Amino acid sequence: MKAAYILGTGGPEVIQYGELPDPSFGANQVLVQVAAVSVNPIDTYIRNGANFWPLPSPFVIGCDFAGTVVGCGDQIKHVSVGDRVWGSNQGLLGRQGCFSELAAIDSEWIYPTRSSVTNQDAAATALVGITAHLGLFREGNLKAGQTVFVRGGTGGVGAMVVQMAKAIGATVITTAGSVDKATRCYELGADHVIQYKTENTTDEILKYCKKGVDLFWETLREPDLDQAVTTMAERGKIIVMAGRTARPALPLGPFYVKGCSLRGFAMFKATPEEQRVAAADIQKWWIEGKLRAQIDRVMPLSEAAEAHRLQEANTIACSSTLSGKIVLVT
Ligand SMILES: NC(=O)c1ccc[n+]([C@@H]2O[C@H](COP(=O)([O-])OP(=O)(O)OC[C@H]3O[C@@H](n4cnc5c(N)ncnc54)[C@H](OP(=O)(O)O)[C@@H]3O)[C@@H](O)[C@H]2O)c1
Repeated sequence: MKAAYILGTGGPEVIQYGELPDPSFGANQVLVQVAAVSVNPIDTYIRNGANFWPLPSPFVIGCDFAGTVVGCGDQIKHVSVGDRVWGSNQGLLGRQGCFSELAAIDSEWIYPTRSSVTNQDAAATALVGITAHLGLFREGNLKAGQTVFVRGGTGGVGAMVVQMAKAIGATVITTAGSVDKATRCYELGADHVIQYKTENTTDEILKYCKKGVDLFWETLREPDLDQAVTTMAERGKIIVMAGRTARPALPLGPFYVKGCSLRGFAMFKATPEEQRVAAADIQKWWIEGKLRAQIDRVMPLSEAAEAHRLQEANTIACSSTLSGKIVLVT
């Protein structure tokens, strides 16, 4: 099979594209003919040598996939050969990744793809969709009628947070780095979009929502907790999930007087059962037309190294050149 893989960590140039042996699959695994995958910032950290856990060698890069089942282990009951499936959480915690024509996936990470959903959309929704769901509902306990702020409404995670919060009847304030991105945020359902390059985000949040927001979702790797606490409602929740090296100051006085709480989480540490709850809602919202993938571009899998360069420029250098996910097709 053709695969995008690395033999050692380093810059995007360590990614090779070529032949690897087809994977064998175990009794509790599904062999997937991968049609589309999507790039996430964590893929670039792992490739770069973040050293979160030992990597298999060769290591096939990537977490998110969508494709068709071409083989099932003896214990597989919930999918059959020919079914379209999607999922995430590959290439993590020592597992092999999925940026390859074939991938052997443990059954707990496999979800059925509805006929109305393309493989590209499914792959582009996987990790970011599950992340948004965990943050809004497991961590944030978001309810209809509450107000959410999320930074980066066309970003991978941000676009999912905007749509899921709207799907349950919350009000959403978000940010965009250009007029076009602001338009896209409104199309995704945002109630108010702040153009952060020309407007003051703190002032705009408080102008739009005088009592402050109930849930402040920070996507930046250098979280601005002062802005978060300033713009929070009484008993508001702050969600943080980016920036492993960040050590931001927490304005403790106003934080506790307002009764705020702060929740952090890493999606890949959620159990298969927790992720399946998120996947079930994603599938329901796809059918109801309440959730759409936000795809910036589609490239061939052979250009995985270039895709990593582009993702890294956005995640690390905040180049603001992407508007959503990079999808790669086999
Ligand atoms: N803990 C977890 O489980 C988890 C899961 C997924 C992702 N993450 C982390 O979350 C972060 C975001 O991931 P992602 O996939 O959503 O990334 P992404 O698709 O690259 O989106 C980044 C977003 O940040 C916005 N942004 C960048 N600089 C900004 C600034 N100075 N002010 C306001 N907005 C700014 C961009 O907005 P514009 O394009 O409008 O400029 C863009 O919408 C990454 O660090 C990733 O590692 C963590």
